[in-house]
Amino acid sequence: KKILIINGPNLNLLGKREPAIYGSQSFLDYLKTIEDQFPNVQLRYFQSNHEGELLDKIHELGFDIDGIVINAGALTHTSIALADALGAVTAPAVEVHISNVHARESYRHHSYLSPKCKGVIVGLGLTGYELAIRYLLTL
Ligand code: DQA
Repeated sequence: KKILIINGPNLNLLGKREPAIYGSQSFLDYLKTIEDQFPNVQLRYFQSNHEGELLDKIHELGFDIDGIVINAGALTHTSIALADALGAVTAPAVEVHISNVHARESYRHHSYLSPKCKGVIVGLGLTGYELAIRYLLTL
């Protein structure tokens, strides 16, 4: 199976960025551990700070793969375009947030993406990504 992991703006800074909220592990380090956990899955990883690049990647792969794990960062709370892209493609998506967005500022409580996703995992740290993959593999 093929799964695409998408990280949006500022998530390239994981490990350095506000470690009290987001932890001290870089995503590339963590990615190695999930590649080891899912040896039979073709994992693709894409990170961008640019909304249009995220849309392009969803369009490019979203009709051919078995699932999308998406943490759109702050675009979660602003981007109708990203929600439309997830709605346009055939691959099912799971939305992940490292931090518990519901325990934070109220502007983080609403997501444009959630209605276009099969489900949402928030507040479980990086573990949320592997749980999302595990779920997508059951479909
Ligand atoms: C985040 C939560 C968002 O509100 C924030 O803008 C991020 C990261 C998370 O993973 O907890 O950039 O998506």
